[in-house]
Amino acid sequence: MIREFPQTLVVGLDLRPSKSMAPPGYGFVRANVLDGLPFRDSSFDFTYQRLVLVTGIPPHGWTAALPELVRVTKPGSRSWTPGATS
Ligand SMILES: C[S@@+](CC[C@H](N)C(=O)[O-])C[C@H]1O[C@@H](n2cnc3c(N)ncnc32)[C@H](O)[C@@H]1O
Repeated sequence: MIREFPQTLVVGLDLRPSKSMAPPGYGFVRANVLDGLPFRDSSFDFTYQRLVLVTGIPPHGWTAALPELVRVTKPGSRSWTPGATS
């Protein structure tokens, strides 16, 4: 994404430390999505999670994590959660 949109700031979040060779334009936050996302409301033009909800947290955690994704996404923008079907 950074290569396609070099003016964009991309922020990753994970429980584990980030890869050491992060490209310019990439910021990393180490956090637990079950504790809420450490960002202000409407922080992002686009949010995306892949495989964290499916592999990382139990189904009951989704009820807290999905609204958090929506909360930090700007109104009218998009949040993509591939694999979430309900
Ligand atoms: C299968 S990997 C997917 C990594 C990356 N999202 C991708 O698509 O390549 C699942 C990741 O979820 C992270 N994870 C699991 N539970 C988490 C949690 N509660 N909060 C934040 N990250 C979590 C794990 O540390 C792991 O890196």
